[in-house]
Amino acid sequence: MSRMVTRREFLGLTGVGIGGLALGGCGVLSGGERRGLPSPARATGTGRIREYAFEAAPTDFEIAGRKFSTWGYDGGVPGPEIRLTEGDTLRVLLKNGLPDDTTIHWHGLPIVNEMDGVPDVTQPPIKSGDDFTYEFVVPTAGTYMYHSHVGLQLDRGLYGPLIVEPKREGLSYDREYTLMLDDWLDEASGTPEDTLEELRSSGGMMGGMGGGMMGGSGGDPAMSGAVDYPYYLISGRVAEDPSTFVVKRGEKIRLRLMNPSADTVFRFAAAGHRLTVTHADGIPVKPVEVDTVRIGMGERYDVMIEAGNPGVWQLAAVPEGKDGLARAILRYGESSEESPPLTDLRPRELEGKLLSYADLRDAEDRSFPGDGLLSGPDRTHEVSLSGDMGSYAWQIDGQRYPDADPLEVRDGEWVRITMRNRSMMWHPMHLHGHFFQVRNGTMSGPFKDTALVEPHMGELTFDFVADNPGDWFFHCHNAYHMETGMARVVSYAR
Ligand code: C2O
Ligand code: CU
Repeated sequence: MSRMVTRREFLGLTGVGIGGLALGGCGVLSGGERRGLPSPARATGTGRIREYAFEAAPTDFEIAGRKFSTWGYDGGVPGPEIRLTEGDTLRVLLKNGLPDDTTIHWHGLPIVNEMDGVPDVTQPPIKSGDDFTYEFVVPTAGTYMYHSHVGLQLDRGLYGPLIVEPKREGLSYDREYTLMLDDWLDEASGTPEDTLEELRSSGGMMGGMGGGMMGGSGGDPAMSGAVDYPYYLISGRVAEDPSTFVVKRGEKIRLRLMNPSADTVFRFAAAGHRLTVTHADGIPVKPVEVDTVRIGMGERYDVMIEAGNPGVWQLAAVPEGKDGLARAILRYGESSEESPPLTDLRPRELEGKLLSYADLRDAEDRSFPGDGLLSGPDRTHEVSLSGDMGSYAWQIDGQRYPDADPLEVRDGEWVRITMRNRSMMWHPMHLHGHFFQVRNGTMSGPFKDTALVEPHMGELTFDFVADNPGDWFFHCHNAYHMETGMARVVSYAR
């Protein structure tokens, strides 16, 4: 079954690359008219250049009146919003004002390899005091993020939203808000580096949680992460001092939910409202209505809310398996009520219908041609995800990056990766440079770039087309897991 398909054959077969992966419901190639998922090679630029200049530097960050010093972009947490249109060229001059090396990764965007921002894989790290210009054509619309890719810097304030508008918006809505869900400890309880030390010396158990490999002491042993954070934030604000998002009755509101946190899976719900999920990791899905969504580190969902229930409501993000909560307020303009009191924090929607990957279908029903009938992947990598809690070392197939073999692929191949989780923690696995299609029991699962592999022998399989040559990082988006070895390089054979 492992017939090699060259890129040429593959594209010939499918019309226009991934876009042409679409098959009609009755197995007929649907032709090239569908919009695909562009790769850098195919991205047609608008010729418009959007320029930004950021400094990564130590900065003060205030949480409910308490001042902390952290590292951020241009003095804010989150960093400044980047917003442009697909096909635009993004040019960012990054000044490194940190006392440490840094880089920026454009999370989720399949761009050219040398701009991907992974230290020692796609570029040498940017030294303290130096600068570097990132420049690339932004190939696809959607909700993305940017963040530092050096060490544990993600668990400071070095992240921000990156929003790419489509050339033509297919969705109709009246307003949009961006919600970045974060776990915060920097300076509030040591630095991320202190935290890693503590994880190492405590065998992965922190903050009194029966963490790591051991599972909890009763209750749901599915652990979002091992670190109990003093604060959980929505777009830089704690529950006591929330952001307020104003809406009007009758409006359609688009929420861009992103999880740039280091060690926390969040469950999000809007009291008094249902959520219609329209995009997963930036890519349109068939709209599906749920009460609550679970968002792993690195994942994004766009959800629509119909503002048909006037009042003042909680938007709540609870850290799975941990205490605490992040919230924002949804306020109807005409409402003069106070914010809901802090005592009523957990909207019952959190216990309602939870989105699962099995609910998600690609909006355009794209699937791999002949999938399961005529053909299968050209190459399959099966790996286990595990941890050694004695030394707090996380592994892919028993190997710890950087002492780990690359996962080899060839240009043009249909590649499958299957992951088996031999630990009790979630692992949000992220592939750089490509969208993959989650195998969720249908032929047209969602295209994503990050997918949660469930604890307790959870299994997840995804497929992608190797259409973006280079060395690409593939890793767990738990910053502590990545830092202690849960990473590989997906490498194109030459
Ligand atoms: Cu968002 Cu390799 O990361
Ligand atoms: Cu992990």
